[in-house]
Amino acid sequence: MMNSLLTRLAHRLLEVPMIFELQESLCNDYGSIRKEFSEYLSKDGLKILDIGCGTGVSASVIVDMEHQSYTGIELMSGYAAIAAKRNPKGKVLAMDATKMDFPSHSFDLAFFSGVWHHMDDKTVRRVLVETKRVLKTKGVLLVAEPLFTPGRWYSNMLLKRDRGRHIRTRDGYLALVKDWYTERERTFNFSLHRSLSLVLRPKAPR
Ligand SMILES: C[S@@+](CC[C@H](N)C(=O)[O-])C[C@H]1O[C@@H](n2cnc3c(N)ncnc32)[C@H](O)[C@@H]1O
Repeated sequence: MMNSLLTRLAHRLLEVPMIFELQESLCNDYGSIRKEFSEYLSKDGLKILDIGCGTGVSASVIVDMEHQSYTGIELMSGYAAIAAKRNPKGKVLAMDATKMDFPSHSFDLAFFSGVWHHMDDKTVRRVLVETKRVLKTKGVLLVAEPLFTPGRWYSNMLLKRDRGRHIRTRDGYLALVKDWYTERERTFNFSLHRSLSLVLRPKAPR
């Protein structure tokens, strides 16, 4: 009872953009994402789309704003406003990823950092259709999502209380990407958690 009250209170507080920004800055080691995907992220000149960018803390670590073109989209306008201030060299838009307002084949690389576990399967599938549309034919999609991990009780305890209600198993995440070619799949440590890391390519239409 007390536990669930505290969890609900924490969730309400995280809806306040500045509090969410503080939590992202203090609790999340985005350097590990940069490192995990370094061979894909280290090219100059990439046009990058960050889907569900939150308050932009992750992008400020993951993306080279000087040498790459960055666009972040975020459902919550308050988060997007903070992300825009944090990343003035990029572009941040309040936008629903299920209905992206970009021309087809606009981006070289798109990434989701901790976003799918906030979406049910139907929403992820809709977002993936849009992602495929806005990515270039030879574009790449990077995904990092948390996993429950046997023996990591502290991680599992926090994830059970996460605002994202759709933390899946490895197979659960992979079931969502049947229409994509999986170039690489592995796991890595992200802060206290074990995360799934996927590198996906759009499959050519048959
Ligand atoms: C856990 S946060 C991750 C933020 C950031 N990517 C990071 O790595 O810190 C998930 C974000 O996805 C956003 N989101 C959820 N559904 C969305 C949608 N349909 N379109 C755009 N953003 C969405 C949420 O508002 C939230 O800011």
